[in-house]
Order: sequence, then C-alpha cells, then structure tokens
Amino acid sequence: MNTVSIGKAPSIRGEITVPGDKSISHRSIMLGAIARGVTTVRGFLRGEDNMSTMHAFQTMGIGITDDGETIRITGGGLHGLKEPGTVLDCGNSGTTIRLITGLLSGQSFFSVVTGDQYLRKRPMKRVVEPLTLMGARIIGRKGGTLAPLAITGGGLKGIEYQSPVSSAQIKSSLMLAGLYAEGETTISEPSLSRDHSERMFSLFGGDVTRNVTGVTVRGGVELTAQDVTVPGDISSAAFFMVAALIVPDSELLIRNVGVNPTRTGVIDILLAMGGDIQLLDCREVSGEPVADILVRSSRLKGIAIGGDVVPRAIDEFPAICIAAACAEGLTTVRDARELRVKETDRIIAMAENLRTLGVTVTETADGMDITGAEQLNGGTVDSRGDHRIAMSLSVAGLVAQSPITVTDTECVGTSFPTFYPLLEKVVAPC
Ligand code: S3P
Repeated sequence: MNTVSIGKAPSIRGEITVPGDKSISHRSIMLGAIARGVTTVRGFLRGEDNMSTMHAFQTMGIGITDDGETIRITGGGLHGLKEPGTVLDCGNSGTTIRLITGLLSGQSFFSVVTGDQYLRKRPMKRVVEPLTLMGARIIGRKGGTLAPLAITGGGLKGIEYQSPVSSAQIKSSLMLAGLYAEGETTISEPSLSRDHSERMFSLFGGDVTRNVTGVTVRGGVELTAQDVTVPGDISSAAFFMVAALIVPDSELLIRNVGVNPTRTGVIDILLAMGGDIQLLDCREVSGEPVADILVRSSRLKGIAIGGDVVPRAIDEFPAICIAAACAEGLTTVRDARELRVKETDRIIAMAENLRTLGVTVTETADGMDITGAEQLNGGTVDSRGDHRIAMSLSVAGLVAQSPITVTDTECVGTSFPTFYPLLEKVVAPC
C-alpha cells in the first residue's frame, strides 16, 4: 500500500493544465462506440476509470486505438456491439457501470457487469428499477440492487421517469437505454445534474429535447461520429484551486478547464467563502464551456452550503471540506446525502480524517458542520481507497503544522494519475 507525506508549502505558483474531464471522456467512448464512423477524442483522460470504459467496449468488439495523443473509435452504429464473451469489469467506476447498464439494456444479447470491492457495495437499484420499467431484465445480488448484474436486453419501451435524486449517472443510463427504446424516454430530476450527456447526444446528432430539469430522448435515431476535444476536469482543478487559496502568497493559473455551469458549484462556493478566483478567456469547445482559472491566496470565511448548488459541486465536497477547515468560522453542508454513496461514505471519511487533524466536525444525515481551525495538525490520515479523499487530505498537508501522511494513495490513479508530480511542480521551492 502506498503512502504519501505532504509538508508545509511556502506558496503555490505557476501555470498548469489538469488532465481531461472524466465524465466527458467516458461519454466520448460510449457515444463513439455506437455512432456511425470514426470518432476522434483529444484530451482524453487516461485514468483507470476511463480505461475500464474503453476495455468494456473493446470486449464488445469495438476497435479503439490510442497513439498517445488521439483516441480513435471505430463505431459500429446503434446495433454494432457484439455480445461480450466475458464479464465486463468496471473497476472502481460508478459512471462506467451505471451508464453501461443502460446501454446494455438496449442490446439484444446477454451481458454481466461487475466492479471492484467498493463498486460492488454501491447502490444499483437506482438504475435497475427504471431500466426494468422500460422492459430490461436485470438480476443481481441482493434482489438486483448490487453488482454483479446480469442483463438480458432488448424490447425496451420509452417511459417518463421522475428520478428521486439529482444524478447524472441515472439520467445518462436512461438516456442511453432510451436510444434503443420504442418512442420517447423522458427523465426529470429534482434539480439539474451535470448535463454532459445532453450536450454530447446533441453533438452526435441524437434527438434530444430539454427543459429546466428534464430531458427527452427519441429512440432509434442513429448517431454520427464526431471529433471531440475534452477540456480539463474541474473536479481535478478543484484540488489546486483550494491549494492556491489556502497557502499564503500563492497565484496559480489553471488553463483549459471545463466550466459547464452544471459543474461550477465549487467555484460559486469558494467565491462565496471569499476566494479570489477569476475566469479568463471563456470559450466553447466541442459543445462545452471552457476557461482559464486564475486563483490567488485568500482569507476564507465559513458559509452555509445547500440546495441546488450541491449537485453542481457533488464531487468537490472533499476539497471544499479542506477549504472550510481553513476558513474563519462555521461552514454547514446540507442536502448532500448523496455523499454517503460515493466511492466511500465521504461524510464519514472527511469528518473522521479532519478530526485527526484537529478540526471540529459534526456529522448530520445529509451533510456536516465544520468549524475552521486556526491551524491544522499533522498526522496520519486514511484515504479509505477513495481518490478524492486522498487528494483533498494531501492538499491539507500544504498548510498543516507538521506533515500529513496519507495512506492508500494508489486510488489517485482512478481519476488523476499525475496529481502528485503536478503538486510538486506548483509548490514553490523554499
Ligand atoms: C458522474 C456523475 C456523478 C459524479 C460522478 C460522475 C457522471 O455521480 O459523482 O463522479 O459522469 O455522470 P451521480 O450521478 O451519482 O451523482
């Protein structure tokens, strides 16, 4: 098991780019595989999660090559996938398993999906139930609520589905199934989750209509291959944004970051905390808003976080917790129950680790209260195998009184394999 020790940084300075957006990278492979023609993808994230998606489609007979710069996917059209001769292993990736289960529900063959020890504990009923309503036959452990899942697809009918949670994985799973369903499939959610699928379906020529918190997909419409450029992942940039805010005398420019409004909750939250963050050169690439982000050290203050901003910042709460731990006063997080079913229970993971660092934290059912500390203590903290917990706690080490040792850091490879070298690059030498 790898451990990493991070000590106090004098400042964070320079210019960086972060690897490609994980959500968009997944979708580029999936849509490329079922489109007609050759899709090219630049800026693809070669993290373990996305490689799980790539391997799954290769196992279903799709030609995918990587010359180190560009990924080329030779799509077979809506009905070009072949029955996988083996179990599809989605590794640690919730997006892979939930989206692919939707896609497999539309195929006229049998398939089995599974994942690692963490993924096999995560809730699958949220996609299995609505996909079953569409006509898919899915069985799995614990009454079909846990992976492995066995899917006998085909014969789907469009439904109108009101999702009880705002989740892009549920929405996208049903959108993919909807491509194969008779008629229209409409999904609505309490508040809008990331809309990369809606944008990419439109880019590939899908028949998609949207309203405030809903989307309708018409089935049977063939997609056309595209050239996709993936922007940097704001979820990866978030660790560096928080680092530059909390370390004194810092100024960091993060170039080419995706700033889709359904993902910028972290910027809104950090601005409300008093962060000095500017978006520069806002532009659009492959149907997604992109900007350069300039961040300077700031005196942060505690705020109340809840409501519609939560799904727009859902993956950034571990990093936001570190900002809160370094802010003056109380930060409250509510309406964030979904954090309990991420790669790990992120409410427990952050609360327990922050307490080790001397921060006062109270857990609630759907969030937590964090009282900012004058100074974080050093010590040994546990990532619990969750990449975002590992990277957040590493950022805390930059301002702690003595070094912070993070255990079990291999998991960083799922979304950000170059995190530690990049962190080393921006920590200005003493
Ligand atoms: C993702 C959606 C989110 C997010 C995950 C990626 C996606 O999950 O937490 O990291 O790519 O659709 P939920 O849909 O479960 O909120």
